[in-house]
Amino acid sequence: MLNPKIENLIKKKSKSKIVCLTAYSKNIAKNIDPYTDLILVGDSLGSVLYEFNTTRLVTLDMMINHSKSVKQGITKSLMVVDMPYQTYRNKSEALKNAKKIAKDTKCDAVKLEGGTKIIPIIKHLIQNNINVMGHIGILPQSVKGKFKVKGKNLREQNQLMKDAKALEQAGVFSIVLEGIKSAVAKKITSNIEIPTIGIGASNDCDGQVLVTDDLLGLTNSNIKFVKKYADLGKSIQSAVKSFRKEVINKKFPSKKYSY
Ligand code: KIV
Repeated sequence: MLNPKIENLIKKKSKSKIVCLTAYSKNIAKNIDPYTDLILVGDSLGSVLYEFNTTRLVTLDMMINHSKSVKQGITKSLMVVDMPYQTYRNKSEALKNAKKIAKDTKCDAVKLEGGTKIIPIIKHLIQNNINVMGHIGILPQSVKGKFKVKGKNLREQNQLMKDAKALEQAGVFSIVLEGIKSAVAKKITSNIEIPTIGIGASNDCDGQVLVTDDLLGLTNSNIKFVKKYADLGKSIQSAVKSFRKEVINKKFPSKKYSY
């Protein structure tokens, strides 16, 4: 039987938009959970938190440790954890690592990057009761160098549609579409029964995901699809400046904050 949170997510397709964000820690998860349907512990944490220039350096232990923290902050959203690079090269490796992620983090599902090429692996996970989210378009784990928008030519458009259909048939409950031309994302979304979650893939997807640190203004991201909804970097600096001033002027801690 499907996880009820996943059933609800699938039912949302074509009814109401699906809200997804990333989290790498409990405090962020706790603050976004009331407003999200799905929280992704993305391997984007490699660049966002560790300054890696590729997600290929993210390890299984890093994903598990951050996910354990995130789990503490979630009460209602569906929790998905990215399987990092080279943790799903064949069926048995994928199942062993997916089971470890599920057991250690108590997440609802894992996400794997790729389409037709990894279908046997995805089927194997699903047959063994691991819920899987797909991810096609720009695949950061496979890219060396600059990310290029996908779906610009007929060959890419046909491959993306094949990938989406194959993932749906394999039994994934949803697919992330990353960096895909709007018309192609629209066509994929209307040709499959499961929800598409876009990041740089237009408003025609069934839902949207962003990296929370980008949305909050904690990173210097200048990617076209990133909209900053806050400037928390500025707020943090202003709070810390006030603290510094009070410490230097011996105003903190006052009696109120002392024993
Ligand atoms: O790693 C990540 O955060 C992701 C999202 C951007 C979709 O895969």
